Amino acid sequence: MKIGIVGAGFVGSAAAYAMVMRGVGTEIVLVDRNHDLAVAQAEDILHATPFAYPMPVNAGDYGDLAGSCVVVLSAGANQRPGETRLELLERNAAVFGEIIPRVLSSAPDAVLLIATNPVDVMTQVSLEIARRTTPDFPAGRVVGSGTILDTARFRALLGRHLGISPKSVHAHVLGEHGDSEVLHWSGADAGAMPVSDFAEQVGRPVTDAVRAAIDEGVRGAAGRIIKGKGATWYGIGGGLARIVQAISDDERAVVTCSIVNPSVAGVENVALSLPRVLGATGVLETLQPTLSPQETADLARSAGILKEAVT
Ligand code: LAC
Repeated sequence: MKIGIVGAGFVGSAAAYAMVMRGVGTEIVLVDRNHDLAVAQAEDILHATPFAYPMPVNAGDYGDLAGSCVVVLSAGANQRPGETRLELLERNAAVFGEIIPRVLSSAPDAVLLIATNPVDVMTQVSLEIARRTTPDFPAGRVVGSGTILDTARFRALLGRHLGISPKSVHAHVLGEHGDSEVLHWSGADAGAMPVSDFAEQVGRPVTDAVRAAIDEGVRGAAGRIIKGKGATWYGIGGGLARIVQAISDDERAVVTCSIVNPSVAGVENVALSLPRVLGATGVLETLQPTLSPQETADLARSAGILKEAVT
């Protein structure tokens, strides 16, 4: 399946590289307003294909997106050190107002995968832009990467504490991809049992101190990395490749990602992350996780913060 990527900077190129290394899709087209950058990224990534999964990787223009099953939107500015994702909004919403109509005129049936921060609000802005020309554009076809990366961070840190592969940990981060995100501890499991029971059995209890350290490790990850190298791109690149794979293969995989929800935690019409079933046409189902009273309150707070950001 053909994959389009608009925005060939750190995130878009890392996503393309991750797709080649995982064998996601059969062709990648990179579009950027800086065409020379897109050409250079495409050539560099093409040289990795003999070590992974050979597929055409080319730079192109919007017209070359025709036939894409999914188009990743990773154009726009990155967070500056100390800047919150929501503060990026103005600068990036304007960029999308130009990009999305051009993408949809070439690839009207593609799933739009939003990577640009603040990703939840940008997902909602993107759906509104798509509906200017196609009023019934399905919400499930505008997917934000949301908390897929935070969920990966949560699983990685839990796996490290428990001494097991993160692939053996099932734990989700819900809500905003940002400071108000909710680590769904009460639903975290490993070995078909609650994480707390697994931890006791392997003699690595999840104490309050461990829980606080993991929470901070997830919530503060982007800030630490941005402080050290100016931006993040490998983690999100991997997360985008995972979402593209689920769409491209019609996998029906359960992934935490963001779409506009009619109502969540008592807040209406807001984009945030919940566990969702992903397939060829984007989000097929949204799951309502069982939450503790505190987690329910935290998710409502997160939804409220996002609602405020879009009004
Ligand atoms: C991060 C960026 C992708 O969390 O928001 O690394």
